[in-house]
Amino acid sequence: MFNAIAIDDKLTLTDAEFEQISDRVYDHCGINLHDGKKELVRARLAKIIRQGRFDSFSQYMEHVAADASGQAFSDLIDSLSTNLTSFFRESIHFDYLARSYLPELVAHKQRSGQLRLRAWSAGCSSGEEPYTIAITLLESLPDRARWDIKLLATDISTRILKRAREGIYERERIEPVPPALKNRYLTMRTQNGQKQFEVASTLRNIITFKYLNLMQEWPFRGPFDFIFCRNVMIYFDKPTQQRLIDRFWKVLAPGGVLFTGHSESLTGIRHQFQYVQPTIYRKR
Ligand SMILES: C[S@@+](CC[C@H](N)C(=O)[O-])C[C@H]1O[C@@H](n2cnc3c(N)ncnc32)[C@H](O)[C@@H]1O
Repeated sequence: MFNAIAIDDKLTLTDAEFEQISDRVYDHCGINLHDGKKELVRARLAKIIRQGRFDSFSQYMEHVAADASGQAFSDLIDSLSTNLTSFFRESIHFDYLARSYLPELVAHKQRSGQLRLRAWSAGCSSGEEPYTIAITLLESLPDRARWDIKLLATDISTRILKRAREGIYERERIEPVPPALKNRYLTMRTQNGQKQFEVASTLRNIITFKYLNLMQEWPFRGPFDFIFCRNVMIYFDKPTQQRLIDRFWKVLAPGGVLFTGHSESLTGIRHQFQYVQPTIYRKR
């Protein structure tokens, strides 16, 4: 059956084109563009198609396939991924870190004499999540100078990673940061008459931003003391989620914690994590 949504008189997204796009996206990065996402795909890609002056979605996909540099495909993924995030999003995770997990971890590491901490923000978007983790760490660790802290922050979107690395946010975006922490970790500057806020180098210094497609090989083995992978798995189907959870288990240290997004429980996934509270799981 022919089912096309008109963008204008000339440009339509047919079922076959939608299937081709969703198959390629799924194979590449696990994002599951089911039928209900057709309108979203049409709307998001229409802009690229107009800018590139392509005659049809098929012609655009031919261009993507022919681009050996991979940039066109990267732009396609960038325009389809959802990057919604904020500072202190799902604040129970930062409360749990500060009040429960880090005090226990600090005591354990002090006993072992190894003041080394490794964490991963997987699907870090524009950086608010890893910067919030970094603030929580710096606020929670006693004798900060004695600690070797590294926070890896990864995402598949090169466009969003650029913003994360810049670490400059508009006033509305820093609203969730408590005033005392704003004073300590954000500096105001004016750009074209607009007030902006730049994150402190003390935060930047412990974070490494890197491109990483979670579906591909990971160039590290951990172990991480904790992993945030929040509001990312929601875009994957169950088999993809299962593989990811198994891989997170492997790179977590014993006793390490996995944080997932508010609507991402491990229900229906085979795993050995201990349930701590909703969206917090511990490797025991
Ligand atoms: C909705 S944001 C979540 C940001 C942050 N974790 C939070 O909860 O606020 C989802 C992020 O996952 C990234 N993403 C989606 N598929 C990915 C994949 N296969 N590998 C790595 N990152 C991916 C997207 O680019 C996007 O930045």
